[in-house]
Amino acid sequence: DLGEYRHFMLKEIFEQPQSVAATLEGRLAADHVLPCLHGVSDALERLAQVDEVQIIACGTSYHAGLVGRYWIEANTDIPCQVEVASEYRYRRQPPRKNLLFVTISQSGETADTLAALEKIKENHGSLATLTICNVAESSLIRESDLALMTVAGPEIGVASTKAFTTQLVALQLLMVLLMQAKGADAGKIAKIVDDLRKLPALIEQALDLNATIEKLAEHFIEKHHALFLGRGELYPIAMEGALKLKEISYIHAEAYPAGELKHGPLALVDSEMPIVTVAPNTALLEKLKSNLEEVRSRGGVLYVFADREAHIQEADNLHVLEMPHVPELLAPIVYTLPLQLLSYHVAVQKGTDVDKPRNLAKSVTVE
Ligand code: F6R
Repeated sequence: DLGEYRHFMLKEIFEQPQSVAATLEGRLAADHVLPCLHGVSDALERLAQVDEVQIIACGTSYHAGLVGRYWIEANTDIPCQVEVASEYRYRRQPPRKNLLFVTISQSGETADTLAALEKIKENHGSLATLTICNVAESSLIRESDLALMTVAGPEIGVASTKAFTTQLVALQLLMVLLMQAKGADAGKIAKIVDDLRKLPALIEQALDLNATIEKLAEHFIEKHHALFLGRGELYPIAMEGALKLKEISYIHAEAYPAGELKHGPLALVDSEMPIVTVAPNTALLEKLKSNLEEVRSRGGVLYVFADREAHIQEADNLHVLEMPHVPELLAPIVYTLPLQLLSYHVAVQKGTDVDKPRNLAKSVTVE
């Protein structure tokens, strides 16, 4: 049922305050994260032994995994690798010690992700396999030792939206469970838990940009290419923004870590290629600002989603869209929303089939 919405994608974008709240519900105590993994009974003992994490997923779920790596490595001493399932499953991996093998999937049925899980179980094994998934009765859940459920509710639109942000929430919960298992600083954990409680309200505030973004979309409909920039854990969010634009509006889009521009893509910059940037007020903001100048001085037109406290000044060819101030760890989640809305409105204005883009299926059960 679409209710007041024109498409499932828009409905699902607007459901995110609730789906994120539902994914947190019953999982936060006052100052720590409650055990929210289902499966083997010694889950917490196994987490305490983890020496390495390997995350495997496809598409949007892979982008969630990339953010997860930044988070886990910034807050624990556990190295974390991330790879798309279709590559991982066909190459040799050296044996690893005390590996936590994590798959991420909305559907739980993605063929390549499932094959990667089967491979690790058959070959050198792992300390534990864990699936972050939105469908409890799925193959990935059945085949994994542990499940961490996202509570997004059914996602109908082919382009993944609320599944992605709830995967990011699940990764935050997993990160804190690992921190707790490894005896991390209690104050640091309490602060993360406190911030997580603010997330639904911050997402609500980001959704207030909807009308502004609908107008902004007009700048994109005639374009053939777009560039998305981010730094640090916002780089995978730029990748996700580019994927959304490609898949539903059919505009070619690429994402770059802003620091890579001068190593090639800067040659592409002209007034015909809009450049979208996500700029929360993080440690890398000053570096990002100088990357923006590099682009602007070459005639590029920039659209910057920025923390209202970042003080990025509007100028010729520099459009600033103000975002709420967010705690650093929540920025990738909150900054996903304007990029979802942008791709949605560009697609609607171009007249594509938003909920069922050409050539794509919701669940990819063949290789
Ligand atoms: C993009 C999208 C796909 C899926 C990918 C993995 O919007 O939806 O890239 O993320 O096919 O699917 P799941 O998460 O079901 O394994």
